Amino acid sequence: MLETLFTPNPEAEKPTPIRPRKGVIIGAGQVGMACAYSMLIQDCFDELILQDVAKDRVEGEVMDLMHGMPFLAPTDIKAGSVADVGQDADIVIITAGAAQKPGETRLHLVERNVAIFENILKDVVKYCPNAILLVVTNPVDILTYITLKITGFPSSRVIGSGTVLDTARFRSLLGQKMDIDARSVHAYIIGEHGDSEVPVWSTANIAGLKLIPDNWENLSKNEQEELEAIYHQVKNAAYDIIKLKGYTSYAIGLATTDIVKAILRSQERILTVSSLLTNNYGIKDVCLSIPTVVNDRGILKTVNISLNETEKQKLQNSAKLLREVFDSLNL
Ligand code: LAC
Repeated sequence: MLETLFTPNPEAEKPTPIRPRKGVIIGAGQVGMACAYSMLIQDCFDELILQDVAKDRVEGEVMDLMHGMPFLAPTDIKAGSVADVGQDADIVIITAGAAQKPGETRLHLVERNVAIFENILKDVVKYCPNAILLVVTNPVDILTYITLKITGFPSSRVIGSGTVLDTARFRSLLGQKMDIDARSVHAYIIGEHGDSEVPVWSTANIAGLKLIPDNWENLSKNEQEELEAIYHQVKNAAYDIIKLKGYTSYAIGLATTDIVKAILRSQERILTVSSLLTNNYGIKDVCLSIPTVVNDRGILKTVNISLNETEKQKLQNSAKLLREVFDSLNL
């Protein structure tokens, strides 16, 4: 109909087919939508499906996002399910489940969310057998482990968002304290994404300069209290935000997008994602976060950062706590 508008190049060749990058987000609540929005504006996927049990809501969310597409690089975004994506989804991001209420810990959610996961994962295995699964729902470490067990996927392809966000919160508070961009602060939060998480003070540095010279005891009482306060602010950030606005969303959306980009662009970035530990610091058969190299096949390797005795002990305690929660589920 519009042929007269164009003059075809008689020598034009057919475009080389590019394999589209396909993603599915399961759960279109506050976290799922913050992920979707952030992934759209950062041009992560060519096709993105949003799946939710609340069909009308997800239709509305998709319409709203679609109207913003002329401002962005194109993404084909649809409401649907893993069944619609074909066998070649790159990443399935799971954010579905009950969310923390004021005063609840992440671990309080475990039974409700395990039941939801059992249901969701059947279809994920059936329709997306080659995808990388990125678990965001809390308690994220337990649900990452359960996802691994239920799906039987290789552990390289089952990743939890873990303490990527806690590490960002940690870096940002330390950066503010020193007037340094958070991206130039090298410091990690490891272990559970939750109350037993561990700050790795011993390796924290800017430009190679250690923040804690040799040992903690050399710091003044004031300095020790200041650093403890930063850790508590990081650990309690979600509680504080939930008290004020009811949920957390934007920062976890951005943290999840960072993981997605590391996967899709095979960046081999070091991120504190949650994954199955097989023998690190005497810990095995539990999912938690330590610095980990992420590429387009998922988890490539973990990094053996040197922890001092206190940090190692705290990490082992975190692993023990997660193991006990898992064992108490009697699955
Ligand atoms: C938080 C949620 C994602 O820490 O657990 O904001």
